[in-house]
Amino acid sequence: MPNKREPQPVDASLDVDGVRHGARAFVLKPLLRGDSREALRAPEAMLAEAVGLAEAIDLTIVAAEAFNLSHPTPATLLGSGQAETWGQRIEAESIHLVVVDHTLTPVQQRNLERAWKCKVIDRTGLILEIFGARARTREGQLQVELAALNYQKSRLVRSWTHLERQRGGFGFLGGPGESQLELDRRLITSRIAKLRYELDQVRRTRGLQRDARQRAEHPTVALVGYTNAGKSTLFNRLTGSEVLAKDMLFATLDPSMRGVTLPSGREVILSDTVGFISDLPTHLVEAFRATLEEVQLADVILHVRDVAHPETLVQKESVEAILADLGIEHGDARLIEVLNKADLLPEDERQSLRDYAVRTSWDAQHALEVDGVKQAARGGTVAVSALTGEGMPDLLRVLDERLALRAQVYAIDVPLEDGAALSWLYEHGQVLERQDKRAAIRLKISLDAADFGRFNSRFVRKSHAKDQL
Ligand code: GTP
Repeated sequence: MPNKREPQPVDASLDVDGVRHGARAFVLKPLLRGDSREALRAPEAMLAEAVGLAEAIDLTIVAAEAFNLSHPTPATLLGSGQAETWGQRIEAESIHLVVVDHTLTPVQQRNLERAWKCKVIDRTGLILEIFGARARTREGQLQVELAALNYQKSRLVRSWTHLERQRGGFGFLGGPGESQLELDRRLITSRIAKLRYELDQVRRTRGLQRDARQRAEHPTVALVGYTNAGKSTLFNRLTGSEVLAKDMLFATLDPSMRGVTLPSGREVILSDTVGFISDLPTHLVEAFRATLEEVQLADVILHVRDVAHPETLVQKESVEAILADLGIEHGDARLIEVLNKADLLPEDERQSLRDYAVRTSWDAQHALEVDGVKQAARGGTVAVSALTGEGMPDLLRVLDERLALRAQVYAIDVPLEDGAALSWLYEHGQVLERQDKRAAIRLKISLDAADFGRFNSRFVRKSHAKDQL
């Protein structure tokens, strides 16, 4: 279980705050026979993940159980015997909330709440609560609220008549007597329309910012990975900054960006993204478009993996499946696999990890050369520990090399008297050919796009003929 925080004091009353902080909860994981995705995963690991998610919103988990469910029922998902047994335990343990780590139909959710006399949320509701609590930027908040309203709209089976936002979260965790949460479908619909409009405005501004960034020609490096893989920790180590890095799932929601200067002097923008989880409902993926857009536009994508996790391969596959949905296929030249948490492995495994990294990493000496431009070899891998800093120089080197592959070949005439421009070019690019002419030196040079942009802005007044070959 990843969370090691002290249990919060429990408030027996069911007011919103009492429920949000330290509420006593059960986590139930029904295992449905024939669910092919689930068949690949160990029930304990799935349960541990569900508990981790529930702890991420400060619930006090009194019990967590995975159990087989051979015949899901339309009324309550669980069989009536099972529902009754759980009901007794819920009463005996004074449980405020039950998380059913599965999708519940609105009817199933309502019936279980009635039978158990406590709040019930399903996996989507839980993830929305987490996202709601974590959203930091305006866009993130709007996106999550939109997803939450769409979700609530489908659940308008109670006599909800007033649109009223509750303090903190989206009210899925409110108590059973939550008539105050009565949302009217019509009001929700108009709120959704308003949110979409606002979101559009915010996105447009962000789009402008991104354009500005692209004009500045800084390459972007996006960190992606399964939740809890260590992205924020790595981001902090690389940028020396403080983004939430806690042992909590989904500590990151909105893309956080920071400029970093690599050892070569190359400046890049590093962006941290939300953690992926398996079977994230597709309508929630849409809620994270901002994050995913950054990934799609990134020049390099660092896939951060927790190699010490028992399900590291399943996690890798589930991240790769989502990336493939975004058009980033396995073996994409922009991908670098970062094998994180190497410090948790025994020395022999660490060594084989390093050997694996050497075998699969891009080797500058052997990269293909096409028209004088190096092309990316597939599948770079680096073993690191974001916590101890082990492997960081390797990661930075691989990152630098990968960015250098974006180089183009340019012909640049440098006036003889402009020694500064000439030495700048020698420092930042790879000179392929040099012709000393009467008034200028003509260089055929391989430069990466960001450096070419910087050369232009720095030396543009003494403009030289610059043609991309
Ligand atoms: P989400 O925001 O949920 O997607 O998580 P994340 O991928 O950003 O993970 P985060 O950086 O928050 O790290 C999760 C936990 O793993 C924290 O407790 C970190 O201290 C721990 N961690 C991260 N990197 C390492 C590492 O290299 N070694 C060890 N031992 N622990 C690490």
